[in-house]
Amino acid sequence: IPVEPFDLVIFGGTGDLARRKILPGLYRRLADGQMPPEARIIGAARSDLDDDGFRELVREALYEYQREEDLDSEQVETFLGLLFYVTVDAKGDAGWEDLKKLMNPDRVHAFYFSVAPSLFGPIAERLKDRGIADDEARIVVEKPFGHDLESAKALNASLAQHFNEKQIYRIDHYLGKETVQNLMAVRFGNMLFEPLWNSQYVDHIQITVAETVGVGGRGEYYDRSGAMRDMVQNHLLQLLCLIAMEPPSRYDPDAVRDEKLKVIRALDTVRPDDLVRGQYLAGPSGPSYLEDVGNPNSLTECFIAMRLAVSNWRWAGTPFYLRTGKRLKARTSEIAIVFKDAPHSIFDVPQGRHSNVLSIRLQPNEGMEMSVTIKEPGPGGMRLIDVPLDMSFAEALGEQASDIPDAYERLIMDVIRGNQTLFMRGDEVEAAWAWTDPVIADWESRGHVPSPYDQGSSGPDDALMLLHRDGRRWRDIRQ
Ligand code: BG6
Repeated sequence: IPVEPFDLVIFGGTGDLARRKILPGLYRRLADGQMPPEARIIGAARSDLDDDGFRELVREALYEYQREEDLDSEQVETFLGLLFYVTVDAKGDAGWEDLKKLMNPDRVHAFYFSVAPSLFGPIAERLKDRGIADDEARIVVEKPFGHDLESAKALNASLAQHFNEKQIYRIDHYLGKETVQNLMAVRFGNMLFEPLWNSQYVDHIQITVAETVGVGGRGEYYDRSGAMRDMVQNHLLQLLCLIAMEPPSRYDPDAVRDEKLKVIRALDTVRPDDLVRGQYLAGPSGPSYLEDVGNPNSLTECFIAMRLAVSNWRWAGTPFYLRTGKRLKARTSEIAIVFKDAPHSIFDVPQGRHSNVLSIRLQPNEGMEMSVTIKEPGPGGMRLIDVPLDMSFAEALGEQASDIPDAYERLIMDVIRGNQTLFMRGDEVEAAWAWTDPVIADWESRGHVPSPYDQGSSGPDDALMLLHRDGRRWRDIRQ
């Protein structure tokens, strides 16, 4: 079903994110029949281009970043026909009148800030002061939303001068991933899981976001951020919130975000010996982290693992183990809920087997798997084995599963529909930084040196110890 007609302005429309994710995502929505024919997508950037120049640039981006089987030349032409371009000076006067003239009245207006955070304020001010955005307009802002609590507060304050919270859509693209929403569907749409979803039944939880890529090409940004700021403060914390939160009273933006906020506020500060930081060495896939960022003295981590406590009634005593890193063994993101053993075994099996694990795979091969203990078939007596009850979306849903929209395309359509549920609220982002800042300040004050690890491994050995010393083990990182 098409959404209502809209004008979407993409600041930074010629940039990397626009070409790789935003514009191909919008094309797929058109190919899927969701784009109203009157929609307009207006690229706005510094480059001196005209409409045709922009269309050419987008055509090239589509052929570069879009799977070939999804490209249909007629649809590509229709899509390019929706595109317009204005040259604007984000901090000056040029171009803003032209942009105003391009906007159609009486339709949804959305402004995507795919630019450096230092431009958020100046752009917001011009949109408002020049009467380009009204009180119904929506603005979309990308991460990094701040570098620490202070800068995040400053960004929130500068946006709040011109737009109210209901108009601001802070993107965390992990919330747009299909399985992440499925996590909520599984928890709150079934009777089966929620009664067991607490420290009485859950032994521990593991969240792994492993990547095979290095940081080459983004070294400058990355070395100033590190895995804690780049991945944990946002993506991993958001996943943790969806697992740990109380059931919201409704599936509506503030009900869901209120519950997530409570989880962030319930997080204990990580103790230094519950934290492992690492840097990859040179290896078959490329240079070392230090070479990739061009800084031989860098103390920034591109791997991090930690043990976290959510201090509330539901989770007291159940640790959450988080890890994420670059140049690891496989690209895989998984959440595993590891249940406790049955309280008393009538079979001759050791305790600590943890045979019930609900694993939720975000990528690749989205799906869920529940392992259960059964009797090994055959006449050999009561021998037990653990088998997976596998539910790969691809198998269960057939064609429908190949149609799963990418995170960005779903989120942009949510902006047009005016649904903020999968976007971060200002107070949530600030709470996440308020938790992150002291952890970083602590290792900086100690001059902590990240441990080296091999490319293609599971990270530094100390990360394995983090679980071993608790009598637990990480799940294998596998494709
Ligand atoms: C981004 C980080 O937000 O997420 C990157 O800045 C990271 O460093 C990326 O590679 C991972 O996203 P995905 O969707 O590929 O898992």
